[in-house]
Amino acid sequence: MQPDFFSTPAQVAGTGTPSGDAEWRTRAAWLRTELNRHNHAYHVLDNPTIPDAEYDKLFRELQALEAAHSELITPDSPTQRVGAAPLSQFAQVRHSAPMLSINNGFADEDIIAFDRRVKDALKSDTEVEYATELKFDGLAINLRYEDGILVEAATRGDGMTGENVTASIRTVRAIPLRLHASHPPKVIDVRGEVLMFKSDFARLNARQREAGQKEFANPRNAAAGSLRQLDSRITAQRVLRFFAYGIGVLEGADMPSSHAGLLDWYAELGIAVCNERAVVKGAQGLLGFFHGVAEKRPHLPYEIDGVVYKVNQLSEQRKLGFVSRAPRFALAHKFPAEEAMTIVQDIGVQVGRTGAITPVARLVPVSVGGVTVTNATLHNEDEVRRKDIQIGDTVIVRRAGDVIPEVVAFVPELRPENARQFSMPPVCPVCGSPIIRLEEEAVARCSGGWVKCAAQRKGGLLHFVSRRAMDVEGLGDQLVEQLVDKHVITTAADLYKMGLTSLAALDRMADKSAQNVLNALEKSKSTTLARFIYALGIRHVGESTAKELARHFGGLDALLQAAEEQLLDVADVGPVVARSIMLFVSDPFNLELIEQLRAAGVNWTEGAPESRPKPLLGKTFVLTGTLPDLSRDAAAEMIEAAGGKVAGSVSKKTSYVVAGEDAGSKLAKAQELGVPILDEIGLLQLLEKVNE
Ligand code: IVH
Repeated sequence: MQPDFFSTPAQVAGTGTPSGDAEWRTRAAWLRTELNRHNHAYHVLDNPTIPDAEYDKLFRELQALEAAHSELITPDSPTQRVGAAPLSQFAQVRHSAPMLSINNGFADEDIIAFDRRVKDALKSDTEVEYATELKFDGLAINLRYEDGILVEAATRGDGMTGENVTASIRTVRAIPLRLHASHPPKVIDVRGEVLMFKSDFARLNARQREAGQKEFANPRNAAAGSLRQLDSRITAQRVLRFFAYGIGVLEGADMPSSHAGLLDWYAELGIAVCNERAVVKGAQGLLGFFHGVAEKRPHLPYEIDGVVYKVNQLSEQRKLGFVSRAPRFALAHKFPAEEAMTIVQDIGVQVGRTGAITPVARLVPVSVGGVTVTNATLHNEDEVRRKDIQIGDTVIVRRAGDVIPEVVAFVPELRPENARQFSMPPVCPVCGSPIIRLEEEAVARCSGGWVKCAAQRKGGLLHFVSRRAMDVEGLGDQLVEQLVDKHVITTAADLYKMGLTSLAALDRMADKSAQNVLNALEKSKSTTLARFIYALGIRHVGESTAKELARHFGGLDALLQAAEEQLLDVADVGPVVARSIMLFVSDPFNLELIEQLRAAGVNWTEGAPESRPKPLLGKTFVLTGTLPDLSRDAAAEMIEAAGGKVAGSVSKKTSYVVAGEDAGSKLAKAQELGVPILDEIGLLQLLEKVNE
């Protein structure tokens, strides 16, 4: 059943234009309630109730009413969410009850010890009941409601005094401007976390990039940066969320008896609480919740840095009290950090298998997500300049999953006076050949090639044996390093000529491990055409292009003999890739290598060339903005499957621009050049038509 403040005043709904002050007032009140209800459904319950266009219509009606009758504007009107005139500074707010911090635990033992301390202090001989929730990675906020109306919002600050961010907070649609209660408390301080969802963060950064503005390092910084905007109209353009997890002052209502009860009450009041919460018993219950959340973590739409445990009964919380500035009744169980701060001691370069020179930050070792990191990639010279990373800087380093750690940003306040800029060395540190950067390329390369440059040879061999290529188990970088440095092998074909004695003679190798490597090499000989093409390491031919090439040509010889125009017929292959393949096959060294590999017994089953129709052949598409349902990759895949190409920039030659929400300069360019513009539905219709 809906609470009665949602109901439609019968005398207004569906009737004609109201006349007279009272009716205007009733209509405005009804519109406010309706709009707030839809907002709550959309932003708090994640369950939209009306189409956006319908919402906008009601919104505009209310705006018009308020413009004509300014006395109708109330503090809880949804029109008040668009941001206000910029402030010159944030006012200070003294919290009525301090906003505390919380103690951290990392290991299982820390959690077991916490539970034991709680149990002892409560003199309990049964398992203690805990409310468990997520530790959101955003910023803490205090929302003050008086008689159900949001009157003030403040950041945590130092815990005693924070900043008044009411104007920004009003723009956050997940935060109700009026509580859903016919008899709201006289005063309530709702505490919780403001955060930005990963998808909204990605969209914001894409927009920042397109506008040539600074990108945010992570969703937390984006949330903090957006909330602490003196110009709340900027905040209004960003999507911030909120989850409540605590309470400060409460007057004029009974405090629930448990933390879980508090969160349930919040949900009734229309305040967003996260569904990933539970009530558990004892240390085993806590650890069970933690491990369950750890598994879900990558799939959550927002970032968390751990979970929080709170003794559930508030009477027990009061008994436990506080030590210094943290409660004894709560503990944050944190995941190992995926970001850490450290110092750049030097910036060196690494030579990849295609000769690409990657600047690498040599770091003071730091533990990130439980792994010690000493090097982090800076991607390329332009990135170093763009991020303005210098030697001596204190930087934020991030690693996520298996990816190579990267330098996210430097900390300006900590830049030393003697910080030094990176400069690209003129010659390859491995083979001494000149480093060359072509004008149209972001990457500088060693010009030594395979033959001169051992780094490129090692890189090429490692690529050849890698899991997605020939998949030779047990042939890691240390072994390849030795094989190349000791001149045991030069090319990939040499791998299959190695004998047990030469392998077993290497450092850290015994007969058994050497035999394992030989067995793995033998096994790798039976492969697929796609894997083999990928393993060759042709520049610009990644795994998916290799698959397309294999599917299209069916056999290796057809590929080796293909003319450039035939290559261009392959989905996924544009002029750059086609030229790179032509260059590869025109080198007798490469053809010889392929022959030797075949002679060594590398084999695959060949198929018939593919004859799938390519109705969009020759058509170029540019994707911009966010499509309602299709991800960028999915849209590109569908276009490419029909033979079309997806390009990054709009020109006269572009056949179509597919534009979604927040499309920027590319859409404008398309309009200027008269390039046809499709939305998602238009694209799907086109694909359906051509694929018929
Ligand atoms: S409770 C009395 N619960 O973590 C305990 N905090 O150091 C007060 N945080 O600044 C905090 N998720 O920003 C609590 N579910 C959660 C939380 C949470 C994130 C943050 C909060 C606070 C910090 C505690």
